[in-house]
Parts: sequence; C-alpha cells; structure tokens
Amino acid sequence: MNVHYHSYDAVVVGAGGAGLRAAIELAGEARTAVLTKLYPTRSHTGAAQGGMCAALANVEEDYWEWHAFDTVKGGDYLGDQDAIDIMCREAIDAVIDLEHFGLPFSRTPQGRIDQRRFGGHTRNHGEAPVRRSCYAADRTGHMILHTLYQRCLAKEVNFFNEFQVFDVLFEGEGANRRAAGVVAYEMATGDLHVFVSKGVLFATGGYGKMFKISSNAHTLTGDGPGVLFKAGIPMEDLEFYQFHPTGIYGFGILLSEAARGEGGILRNSDGERFMERVAPTVKDLAPRDMVSRAIHAEIKAGRGAGPKSDYVYLDLTHLPPEQIDSKLPDITDFVRTYLGIEPKKDPIPIQPTAHYAMGGIPTNVEGEVIVDDQNTVLPGLYAAGECACVSVHGANRLGTNSLLDIVVFGRRGGKAMAEYVKNVGHPDVPKGAEAKVRERIEQLKAGTGSEKVGEIRTTLQESMTLDASVVRTNESLTDARKTVEELKAQYANIKIDDKGEVFNYDLTEAMELGHLLDLAHGLVVGAQARTESRGAHWRDDYPTRDDQNWMKHTLAHLEQDGSIRLSYKQVVAGNYQPMERKY
Ligand code: FUM
Repeated sequence: MNVHYHSYDAVVVGAGGAGLRAAIELAGEARTAVLTKLYPTRSHTGAAQGGMCAALANVEEDYWEWHAFDTVKGGDYLGDQDAIDIMCREAIDAVIDLEHFGLPFSRTPQGRIDQRRFGGHTRNHGEAPVRRSCYAADRTGHMILHTLYQRCLAKEVNFFNEFQVFDVLFEGEGANRRAAGVVAYEMATGDLHVFVSKGVLFATGGYGKMFKISSNAHTLTGDGPGVLFKAGIPMEDLEFYQFHPTGIYGFGILLSEAARGEGGILRNSDGERFMERVAPTVKDLAPRDMVSRAIHAEIKAGRGAGPKSDYVYLDLTHLPPEQIDSKLPDITDFVRTYLGIEPKKDPIPIQPTAHYAMGGIPTNVEGEVIVDDQNTVLPGLYAAGECACVSVHGANRLGTNSLLDIVVFGRRGGKAMAEYVKNVGHPDVPKGAEAKVRERIEQLKAGTGSEKVGEIRTTLQESMTLDASVVRTNESLTDARKTVEELKAQYANIKIDDKGEVFNYDLTEAMELGHLLDLAHGLVVGAQARTESRGAHWRDDYPTRDDQNWMKHTLAHLEQDGSIRLSYKQVVAGNYQPMERKY
C-alpha cells in the first residue's frame, strides 16, 4: 500500500451542500482540498426535494422572526435559540446568494422566486401555513448541489474524488489538541493519503443507513461523526432522529412534503383525512414528528391500508394534472417507476422513512467543534450540515430547514476556518501518521473472522427500525441496545472477502459499518436515558415533555472499551418560552 503526503491550510471532508458552501468561502483565502468518497454531484444533497425556507415574503407577508418561532416550536424547544435566530435571519441572504450563483429557482408569474407551504411553517406564530419555501420544482437539492459545485470549479477548488476519510489527525494531547489533518483511502488504488492541514471541516452528511426503511442513500453511514466519536469527540442529541412521513411504501424513497404543500392529503384505509383530528389548524402540514406518529397511530388502530394494513395513502388525485407536472415531476415519476401507480389517478401507499439526524458533531454557530458541556472549542476542527449539531433543529427539524442549514452554516464554518488558518502555524505531524489506518486495513484483509458485514448491517437496520424509530419504550430500547451491543461484539470478528486494492467496497463498507454501530449505540443509550417525549423522540412509557428534567442536550461519549457514557449540556434560551405544542 503506497502512502502519499499532502500539505494544505484547509481540508473539507464531504462535497455535499455544506462542504461545497464552505469551500467557496475558503477558496482564494486558504490552500484548500475537498475530499469526498463520492463524486461531488452524487452527494445526498442532490436528493433533497421540496425547498429551502427563507422569509422573503415574495408571495405573502412573512418575517424571519416568525420563521425562528416556528423553528423553535417545531424543535420542541430543544433548539439553541441564538443559532436559530442566526439561521432564520441569514436565510434571506443565503437564498439571494444562491440566486446570484445562478440557481434556477421556480418563479412567480411576476418573475420573483416562488415560495410554497411546508410542514410547521406558519404565519404569525401558528395562525395558518405560510408560503416560505423557495424551490426548484421538486429537485431543489439537486439544483443547489450543481450550482455550488459549478461555483467551486470556477474558484478552482482542489477536489479529491473517491477519497474516503478513515481517521482524523491531531497535534498535541488532551486539552492541548488541535486539528492537524486527516488520513484518507483512495478508492481507485487502495493507496493511503495523509493530508496535513491547519483546519479540518467535516461535512459528511447523515447516518440513515442504520435503519432499514430510509430515504438515505447507501452511502450515508455517518463517516465524519464516526471518525470523531472514536477520536474522543462527544456526539450531541443522537436520540433525536427524524422519520419523514411520506416514504414510498416498502422502499422508503422520499416523496417530498412539497406534495402536501401543493395540496396533497393523507388518508387512512377509510379514506379519512386523519390529520384534521391531530392538527386542526395546519392539518397535513403539521411538523414531521407529529405526522409520522399520527400515521403510526392510524396503523396501530387498524386503519392502515393494504394486505398487511401497514401503510396509509398520500392522495394527489384532486390536484390539477398540470400542477403535478410542473411542481412535482420527479416524485410522481418515482411512484410510477417503483410502485407502477399513476399518482394523478390513484392514491400513493406511503410509510414513515428514516430521513434526518438532528444530532451529530457538536458545534457553535461558527462551525467550531466543541468537546464538552462548557462549549470548549477544539481548535482547527469544524463541522457543518447534517453531520453537525449546532443545534438549530432541536428535537425535530422542520422541512426545508436542512437545505438552509447547509448553506448558512457551511458558509459560516468556511469563513471562520479561513480566518483561523491565517493565524496559526502549520501543524507538526510526524511521518507514519497513517499507521493506525494501515494496521486496521491489514488486519481486516488478513482477518480470519467469521462474521459478515452485510449480515451485521441487516440485523442492525431491522432492529433499529423495529425498536428505536417513531415510537419507543424502555422495553424496545432495551432490545435495541442488546442487539447493537451483540453486533459490536460480532463486528470485532468480521471477515472481508475482497483482499484487493481497487475499489474494494468490501473494505470500505466494513469501515462504514463500524460508524453505524457506534452511532446506533449512542442513539439507543441516549434514548433509553431520556425518560420523556420530545419532538422525534417519542416514548410511549413517558408520553409527555418534561422541561424540568430534560430541557438539556445529551452528549454521548464513546469510551475506550466501546461503552457509551452520557453527560448533558444546557439549551440556549431566547425570546420564545416553552409552551404546549399544538397546531
Ligand atoms: O420533503 C422534502 O422535500 C424534504 C425536505 C427536507 O427534508 O427538508
């Protein structure tokens, strides 16, 4: 295995929206490398559909403060209100930046950026749904990704495509550590690359592949959080994992909430519009945690459809066909392709699908990674996007706030890192910094173990979907925890069949599985400890929110022996006082 050394000021890991937006700020300011295990335009940002919210007020009255209120309430009061204010205020400029970069937004007849309704976004603190989401048909993420990538190419950013990061490097020990680079595996050759760098920003996306039914691509395996978790960085609020209400039944492929924003309706097997009972004001446009739970309740009450009574319908049949064709072209095609159904004529079978991690690498509003409950910064280390927890989404993210998060905090992280690297010297990384990764690869290839990566991953996904998803109890979480701990023990004894160097997915998937197992472990341990229901974390055995004891962020620490230790960190309060969440 050959080893190559590189020297940069800044390394960005991940080339989705957050990584690319950071790179745009860094380019020209610092010698920057962007590493991605994919090709940039295959990043999962491209799968985001419905839009990006900003209170532009292009089609009706709106203010960023209303957006901030909705985000705080949508997150069930766990979001940090300083960060939420920043995100909602900067949203407006972030959209205009994208427009100036050339993003082809859908337009109003007057030529302004059009806006549509989305779940939990309301006018005047809950009166009615508001049109706040800026969009490009149902391919907004695709347009953002391509627009940002083109901008990076224009700025001559250095891309290292199909380079998967296996380790992070530090200079110094303990409290004196600072980021010093990463070790990456070049998939085309099997070579190792040591990138020595003053600053490192992780923007690797989510980890939805720990669940069986998921809207996430196969590549979303929590690589950034997984690498940092092992390096002693705690993970924040892992127990808050979002289930999007409308995944294609049996597949989990996303059908955008924009379908309901355009007037689509959820119906049970009796044809009843059940969201009228659950959220009388906003109905089908309630936040995702509530809608997913309502679907779960319909199915449990025997009002699910189909041979197993385990799905409900998304009904678009009353929408004008030209509205479907112009506003929802991609998702209606997915339905035709995967279910063989014509959505203009027939309602679509859907079920909640694992979609988004509210938790992740703890950061402050400049994207700097923090390592404890005192918000201590680890110099030179940054994170942005879904892999990070700022925390703007609290216990439940509102739809469209994730495309917003990646551009606002990608930009802030990139800017902050560009400033940081100007003021520090180059880190001292001794030769052989790749030794740990090399040993792990050699051990995997030489291994005589008996356990199969694919089998462990399937068991993990089935267990997490059954026991740690929309509705949880102590009993279900005990089962999930037991399974994850057994799987971690089995993982120590895995075997890979491909011993080759070229595109060895057997090897990369083995590394990815390690991340999924650790993060799933943190999720179930945090969820079991949190004896309340808040946002996406619903405990049937503790069905109320408990602000007195649980208005705090969880920090999960991965110990040397593989166990999880929990500590807690204060939520940042602001203008909005906690109240009962009704819609
Ligand atoms: O439903 C959607 O289009 C997804 C948007 C999001 O997750 O923000």
